[in-house]
Amino acid sequence: MCGIVGVLGNHEVAPLLVEALKRLEYRGYDSAGIATVNKGRLDRRRAVGKLVNLSDLLVHDPLAGKAGIGHTRWATHGAATVVNAHPHRAGRVAVVHNGIIENFRELRAEVTAAGLTFETETDTETVALLARMYMDQGLAPREAAEATLQRLHGAFALCFLFDGEEDLLIAARKGSPLAIGHGDGEMFVGSDAIALAPMTDRITYLEEGDRAVVTRAGAEIFNAEGQRANRAMTRIAIDSTRIEKAGYKHFMAKEIAEQPVVIADALRHYISGGALALPEGLDFTSVDRLTLVACGTASYACLVAKYWFEQIAGLPCEVDIASEFRYREPPLSDRSWALFVSQSGETADTLAALRYASGKVAKVVSVCNVPTSSIARESDLALPILAGVEVGVASTKAFTCQLTVLALMALKAAADRGRLDGPALAAHLADLATLPGLMNHALRLAGDIAHIAEELAEAQDILFLGRGPMFPLAMEGALKLKEISYIHAEGYASGELKHGPIALIDARVPVIVMAPKDTLFEKTVSNMQEVMARHGKVLLISDMAGVQAAGMGCWQTLTLPAAPALLAPILYAIPAQLLAYHTAIAKGTDVDQPRNLAKSVTVE
Ligand code: F6R
Repeated sequence: MCGIVGVLGNHEVAPLLVEALKRLEYRGYDSAGIATVNKGRLDRRRAVGKLVNLSDLLVHDPLAGKAGIGHTRWATHGAATVVNAHPHRAGRVAVVHNGIIENFRELRAEVTAAGLTFETETDTETVALLARMYMDQGLAPREAAEATLQRLHGAFALCFLFDGEEDLLIAARKGSPLAIGHGDGEMFVGSDAIALAPMTDRITYLEEGDRAVVTRAGAEIFNAEGQRANRAMTRIAIDSTRIEKAGYKHFMAKEIAEQPVVIADALRHYISGGALALPEGLDFTSVDRLTLVACGTASYACLVAKYWFEQIAGLPCEVDIASEFRYREPPLSDRSWALFVSQSGETADTLAALRYASGKVAKVVSVCNVPTSSIARESDLALPILAGVEVGVASTKAFTCQLTVLALMALKAAADRGRLDGPALAAHLADLATLPGLMNHALRLAGDIAHIAEELAEAQDILFLGRGPMFPLAMEGALKLKEISYIHAEGYASGELKHGPIALIDARVPVIVMAPKDTLFEKTVSNMQEVMARHGKVLLISDMAGVQAAGMGCWQTLTLPAAPALLAPILYAIPAQLLAYHTAIAKGTDVDQPRNLAKSVTVE
């Protein structure tokens, strides 16, 4: 993962680099560092852990200079130590890197044979040492960087800075995103446009294989074949004000609370005058199959959507996690569509899966939160989910917005395929209009949930159960809980319990059952009874009718408002998120930046 930035400024760059890194911290927070060239001299500062540690270091030990690079790290090769922190330096060159250099072992051997020594365990240091080796052989910085880039296999976004060069950055992109920002007599490089937003809204995205020679006068871009390439400059509408917690203790709390508003925004965007207003190219009439691909939480949104596309639209659907899909080489029909769901739009596996599907299917569609992301840009059709910037590493509002957009797409598919007439479609849309209000009701459970969470925080293992669309919700509830509270949790289809997981049940294992009073309710309740017969501690999440029918004997119950079947999975996400949030609070973990994780997973 990692976030990289480069600035050729008119003023001191250290504060700009730190501000940009703040905006990239979602990509990793194992360490951070910056390097500058001041009066021709290259120097750097690095600190382990969050960016605040680097900021503190810079207060005591500032770094002057108007040219610099910076990095926030999610460790891949080598532990999170100062020595392994970027920028990596060798002789006159410093480099920051996002990605993985796959052939670093061979290159390491070559560089070592040339008499250079390694200080770190990272793959990135190889890049710095190779460039140094070429400079030692007499190549100028620009040629040395090019010779180095020619040798690298794997995925990278790189930015080079050179001792003695106060008006030069070399940036390169292969597999990891990279944006060039244009200022007035200043130039910027960043892993994304959001990082550069305080400095400029004029952005050029590098394409695969591109290198950029950046000076204050502008950027010369070359494609993978070394030819001059014209890449468009676009104006990006990103609010340059800092994204704030708005009085909430955590971004996650704010993002959970925002859901009724952002869902209402998404509904307003895609429903107009009581009718669907989805993009024109979204015509499912001749689509014979849908393949949905994503990672993590986004893949659970896809699994919920499978129920909708199949049950409401009668459209055969398969769902795959991107890291498996991309290497399995699945046959894809040219009458099918492939649909990629991603909050960041930069997830390496999802992007690779999209590239695999491109050209094999009739249409590549994406559902992303970041409309300028690689996945959105490389799709035939991209539907924004309009969740707004999501900062908390654990995805919340993006998940429910993904579900909302997918529900609308399933309704469109049903209408296109003659499975839903006008009045039935209108009834579904009217139901969806009630969703923000229902979510507001669900949010009022926060107090009860905080109370329950105090006991959940004591558990070693927690199971989530659900049937139908509540099964992926159970997996999402378990993922949310484990990623921020570090308690082991699993989500199962309730019917699957007796095929193994029931062996885990005893009085110490809380079992969270997500069961609206729908057609599958009685089946789920039977499975819940099997848990209770083995002294399992059941928390039933249902509506009033469900709690009245089956709440007796449960350890705890949570009552949500009754909701139409289409809306239930979106609504039930709220108690799942609140349970994870309050359990993490009770455990005192770092809610917004849980250990070992990053918001945007740009390595495979
Ligand atoms: C969990 C979470 C992750 C992401 C996954 C995919 O809370 O956020 O599981 O859902 O890393 O990320 P995107 O949606 O950016 O492709």
